[in-house]
Amino acid sequence: MNVLEMLQFETNEKMPPHYKELPEEEMIERVKKIKEKFGKRLLIPGHHYQKDEVVQFADVTGDSLQLAQAAAVNKEAEFIVFCGVHFMAETADMLTTGQQKVILPDMRAGCSMADMADIEQTERAWTKLQKMFGDTILPLTYVNSTAAIKAFVGKNGGATVTSSNAEKMLHWSFEQKQRILFLPDQHLGRNTAFNLGVPLEKMAIWNPITNELEYNGNPEDIIVILWKGHCSVHEKFTVENVEHLRKTKPDMKIIVHPECSREVVAVSDLAGSTKYIIDAIEAAEAGSKWAIGTEMNLVKRIIEQNPDKEIVSLNPFMCPCLTMNRIDLPHLLWALEGLEEGKIINPIKVDPETTAQAVLALDRMLANV
Ligand code: 13P
Ligand code: SF4
Repeated sequence: MNVLEMLQFETNEKMPPHYKELPEEEMIERVKKIKEKFGKRLLIPGHHYQKDEVVQFADVTGDSLQLAQAAAVNKEAEFIVFCGVHFMAETADMLTTGQQKVILPDMRAGCSMADMADIEQTERAWTKLQKMFGDTILPLTYVNSTAAIKAFVGKNGGATVTSSNAEKMLHWSFEQKQRILFLPDQHLGRNTAFNLGVPLEKMAIWNPITNELEYNGNPEDIIVILWKGHCSVHEKFTVENVEHLRKTKPDMKIIVHPECSREVVAVSDLAGSTKYIIDAIEAAEAGSKWAIGTEMNLVKRIIEQNPDKEIVSLNPFMCPCLTMNRIDLPHLLWALEGLEEGKIINPIKVDPETTAQAVLALDRMLANV
């Protein structure tokens, strides 16, 4: 059966419960067999925050930038079973050809941060901000956003960013316009702008619920407008966590993701993207001591892969990202067995008009990194 014929068998359904009862070894064997059978016709990208039981089958692992790049260059996989969250699968769909089919093994794998900005709120905000500031603002969106918001940004001359290239992209933006509207993560926006020398007093917050700008000074001074969104995982790292560690383990270095608050980043030793954190720990001396402030599946994997170092989570009570965790071995197997039966379970398909505009924003990013 070819891809066109399979289009008739697309479904959005819930996994049958018996998959949860299968022994792990059996699921592993079944996934292995399907992967062998499909060969290069199948690509499984896996985000670094995915569980080990899923990551073991990933053909490519990476942070959001690496996975977007992997999707953009792959022209041979007919099926891309995306092990990550919804916005990443949408990005993969928009960067691949119309013939390639993207599948998300569990449709409940969303992102609470991406849900904090919808297109109606964004358009409403834009109308108001244009009235206040005229044509002086460029919109930038973290890739952790819906395809509709990426399209809005693309249509208005802006670009997407990831945590790996946010500084470069803000730099690029300031060459285009005097001000930036940064969606939807206020912390990544604030931390990045601060690193580039923008004073905190020149950053305002856009509240999408009240449709108001939150700012105490003269609006003319505003350089960066930060959407009031955050990551519910990274917000759980606190200044108290850092202070506790400084007291109990003063020789430990603290490295955090820039989705953590400005206050936490300010008192940590290092801050950077998922890839930056992995590379920094890998390159560190044997015997060095680290506390990491990022998602727990990744922290656990870094601990396993670096037995020569002492590594802990900055917050000892940290949990994994719950939506990333929706993708598990049973869902992966279910999606793959669907393919075997000629059924595309949970297809991710962005409409052509949205795709065309969103790709403008994605391409502006990919051209700059
Ligand atoms: P990166 O993969 O860009 O570091 O982002 C982290 C994240 O929260 C993904 O959802
Ligand atoms: Fe979204 Fe945060 Fe989970 Fe990433 S870690 S998918 S930003 S909720």
